[in-house]
Amino acid sequence: MHDFQVKKNTLCCERTSLAEIARAVGTPAFVYSKHTLLDHFTKLRQAFAEINPLICYSMKANSNLALCRLLVNAGAGLDIVSGGELYRAKKIKADSQKIVYASVGKTAEEIEAAIRAGILFFNVESLSELALINAISGRCGKRQRVALRINPDVSAHTHDYISTAKRENKFGIDIETAREVFIHCNRNLPHVQLCCIHVHIGSQIEQAAPFKAALKKAVALIIELNRRGAGITHLNIGGGLGIIYRKERPQTADEYARAIIPIIKKAKVSLILEPGRFIVGNAGVLLTKILYLKDTPVKRFIIVDAAMNDLLRPSLYGAYHEIIPVEKTAGAMKKADVVGPVCESGDFLAKDRGLPAFLKENDVLAVMGAGAYGFSMSSNYNSRRRAVEVLVDDRRYQIVRKREQYRDLVRNEITGKL
Ligand code: LLP
Repeated sequence: MHDFQVKKNTLCCERTSLAEIARAVGTPAFVYSKHTLLDHFTKLRQAFAEINPLICYSMKANSNLALCRLLVNAGAGLDIVSGGELYRAKKIKADSQKIVYASVGKTAEEIEAAIRAGILFFNVESLSELALINAISGRCGKRQRVALRINPDVSAHTHDYISTAKRENKFGIDIETAREVFIHCNRNLPHVQLCCIHVHIGSQIEQAAPFKAALKKAVALIIELNRRGAGITHLNIGGGLGIIYRKERPQTADEYARAIIPIIKKAKVSLILEPGRFIVGNAGVLLTKILYLKDTPVKRFIIVDAAMNDLLRPSLYGAYHEIIPVEKTAGAMKKADVVGPVCESGDFLAKDRGLPAFLKENDVLAVMGAGAYGFSMSSNYNSRRRAVEVLVDDRRYQIVRKREQYRDLVRNEITGKL
């Protein structure tokens, strides 16, 4: 459930009218519901209450400081993937002992910064990376805790681009090699403490079966290695929970927990989760204004002021996002493509979508489910300024990121004399 509901013909975020927000801050604008955000976090925490896991919110889904701060204050840790996300985590004074750091390509500089910050775990993706962390950790006079990310070779049944646990994917280390790494590491790498298995099989996964298949493999490995004295204390099961964009019927947090807790318990270790989309996906919408209606002999184009640079998911993954006029009136539907101003045919928010025929220029539309991987994947393509972000709390709202100005676009550029 989310807090974007139609009340008296007006789409509201909590108890604030989205039309009013659009008038006040302009469009395109991302609008987030504080209540939805915290409610999704709480649902997950309650579902897993009996084993009290550390829930590290995956910042890549939406790294806005205000949203991250709310989650951190509610008890969340953070899952980061770059020095930039570490910087953001520090800005909101997140407890570094609740930070886990994944990425196949961490640089030496990023590794050192994270070690000095005192993060809980690196999720290590290769042997070379493990050796580098060991060296840097030694130089810093520390013994850094690390997790080994395994690649369980299971199919996550999701879009290829966000499926991460097949052998041919760049992520993790196959189970055979992982076994050897544990033995090798404990003997030869004194500045790391390898004590966690990490597994993340992909994103927008609707069923429990792939999670179960991967976790069974991870747990069997932990039991086997601990029998041999490996000292594994944690299991990090990543993120990946699917949400409803259209007609999906994804597992609920409770169903997910019920399906996997019995498997996890066998490992007798502490649990870490890294959810992103589940927490923030349906907590945000993108407001966009209709610039022009263009009826051609073959179809109608609704040209709006948001584009692929604001919300890339439809163009990149063919993702479906529901589109609702913020001031709703019942009426006949007409099919249209909702497209942005960017100079590519790949720039669309919806294709052949049934939308009210009465829509007119200057009407505002809400693109739903834009809280996760919306703003965080946005860019300045076509020298477009990135959108304003707004946080709603009941009847109040606040800008939590200003709309970029033209001078922001050229801030780091040098005209040069060459
Ligand atoms: N942990 C790891 C190691 C990850 O790679 C990811 C996401 C997560 C956690 C969080 O996954 P979530 O709970 O959000 O599914 N841009 C794509 C999604 C990319 C996911 C990348 N990794 C999209 O818009 O669908």
